[in-house]
Amino acid sequence: MYEPEVGFFASGRGAGRAGRDFVTSPEVGSLFGACVARALDRSWRELGEPDPFVVVEAGAGNGRLARDVLRAHPACERALHYVLVEVSAALRDEQRERLELEPPDEALGPFTAGHDDEAPLPVSGSGPVVVALEELPALELIGVVLANELLDNLPFGIAQSSDAGWLEVRVAAAPAGGGFEEVLVPAEPNDAGALDAVTQGLTVEAGSRLPIPRGIDAWFATCARMVRHGTVIAVDYVDDAARILERGDASAWLRTYRAHARGGPALDAPGTQDITSDVVREQLLHAARHSGFTIAADESQSDWLQGLGIEELVEAGRQQWESRAHIGDLEALEGRSRVAEANALTDPAGLGAHRVVTLVK
Ligand SMILES: C[S@@+](CC[C@H](N)C(=O)[O-])C[C@H]1O[C@@H](n2cnc3c(N)ncnc32)[C@H](O)[C@@H]1O
Repeated sequence: MYEPEVGFFASGRGAGRAGRDFVTSPEVGSLFGACVARALDRSWRELGEPDPFVVVEAGAGNGRLARDVLRAHPACERALHYVLVEVSAALRDEQRERLELEPPDEALGPFTAGHDDEAPLPVSGSGPVVVALEELPALELIGVVLANELLDNLPFGIAQSSDAGWLEVRVAAAPAGGGFEEVLVPAEPNDAGALDAVTQGLTVEAGSRLPIPRGIDAWFATCARMVRHGTVIAVDYVDDAARILERGDASAWLRTYRAHARGGPALDAPGTQDITSDVVREQLLHAARHSGFTIAADESQSDWLQGLGIEELVEAGRQQWESRAHIGDLEALEGRSRVAEANALTDPAGLGAHRVVTLVK
């Protein structure tokens, strides 16, 4: 998420976002979705224009990104089978308001009977088909897995270095007064080995903390089973282990959010605030490689968007505004807001500093 300080959102909150202090790239406006549509087309072409072309958006939130991708009419749309995966039932309800969703078993359909005993075959040219699920589908797919700000939401442990090796920070009921307190136990040997590998050659002061990426490891393993041939595009807060260690204890990379604002200490009011962690680049790349993916690119969001032609889209928006300003409809206004959106999406002190890691298999 982006904590706006200057520019487009400096006054807080552009139109329609009153009261929201933290925005993700899709919430900035439709430009991000238009860029993602180009990224999907690029992968589709690299994969030889498969049909069906399955795009799984993991942690799809309220469906805003999916809607903007479809509105951009990517070249792959007739082949496109878009699967939104979102764990929150309330957000899945919001997706239904934004998108025309098909029953989940249509993800690769509609189907036609195969010859004799063959499995039914998907009908080509039937896209876009959009379905919503609670968890990653048990499919083998050719396509793309897309995750914007999912990885920092996945479960993680906390490790602390000590003169005697890595410890894990666990939580126990406090003996007096209710609430919780931290308890340090020796880290599992596998975790300690992985932490040693990540910090090899770095100075690790006793008491330094790092995340243990349990959810990320499990997520990539599931993705690897799902993607027969394709691309994973993960966009997130990512930083090097060295820089995360420099920041001292966990308070700088472990953040809590409540009602779209920073929350309190992580052990306060359990269940009422989101707890997120910066992703350690070395841990992410290790999990990806270990699951069988090859790193195709690891770049800032700003560079990624430039490579996808964000400037061209801004220019097209300017022309759209000029030709429709007298009508003043939604299309005209969308065109006009593209300059400000591009500034927010590429801001090196904000969303532009997110990392986009592209993996292939
Ligand atoms: C920071 S939000 C980002 C939402 C959206 N991608 C965006 O960019 O606006 C992270 C989302 O991931 C969802 N999420 C967390 N863990 C998940 C999981 N294991 N599977 C699917 N969704 C998950 C959360 O409910 C939340 O909607």
